Amino acid sequence: MKIFLDTANLESIKKFNDMGLLDGITTNPSLMSKEGGNPKDAMGEITKIIKGDVSLEVVSTDYSGMIEEGKRLREYGDNVVVKVPMTPDGLKACKTLSSQGIPVNVTLIFSANQALLAAKSGAKYVSPFIGRLDDVGQDGMKLISDIKKIFKNYEDSIDTQILVASVRHPVHVVDAAKIGADVVTLPPTVLDKMLLHPLTKIGLENFLADWEKLKAGNPDIKI
Ligand code: E4P
Repeated sequence: MKIFLDTANLESIKKFNDMGLLDGITTNPSLMSKEGGNPKDAMGEITKIIKGDVSLEVVSTDYSGMIEEGKRLREYGDNVVVKVPMTPDGLKACKTLSSQGIPVNVTLIFSANQALLAAKSGAKYVSPFIGRLDDVGQDGMKLISDIKKIFKNYEDSIDTQILVASVRHPVHVVDAAKIGADVVTLPPTVLDKMLLHPLTKIGLENFLADWEKLKAGNPDIKI
């Protein structure tokens, strides 16, 4: 399963990219707004730092505006995936951009039918928002398994990838991997939590304490 970081924060992107963990980035207008400054600078930097796919989102809601913005966004790099909303105009833009070789991520997916339609429009990725479904009392992860099953039934004609979005905690990641989702996009806080386990911390402390004991009798030893 590929791991994308769901942020426009350059510090976090560099931190996790240096660990070799990132296959790509997703952004949206809210994430850009959270960082402030000029989003053009952030988009330019992110597309340079990350070799994999970087989703940059349009803000137009009409077909022509989305096509125009999508083409401008692609000028940041060949790794740019144009993110469009799951609307009739969004799907029309998805079809046009995809047929011109520009990959598209259809965002704000909340049902299996929406995912099926986005796939038919040629999307490279569909982004089901599982956390927001959980928030309103629906089962976000059930949506992932439904989409997975549907795409598998038609694997000869659908090569759209399931990009699990709106991830809230590490259990979401394990469940998405068990289902076989193609990608999860994670807020930096979730990726931080995935790195840690209390037994790892205690284990390391004990190893180092024992090493110090050994060194006390042999001050010159080195590894
Ligand atoms: C990713 O592409 C989405 O924009 C993002 O995961 C939404 O997450 P949120 O529901 O935490 O805002």
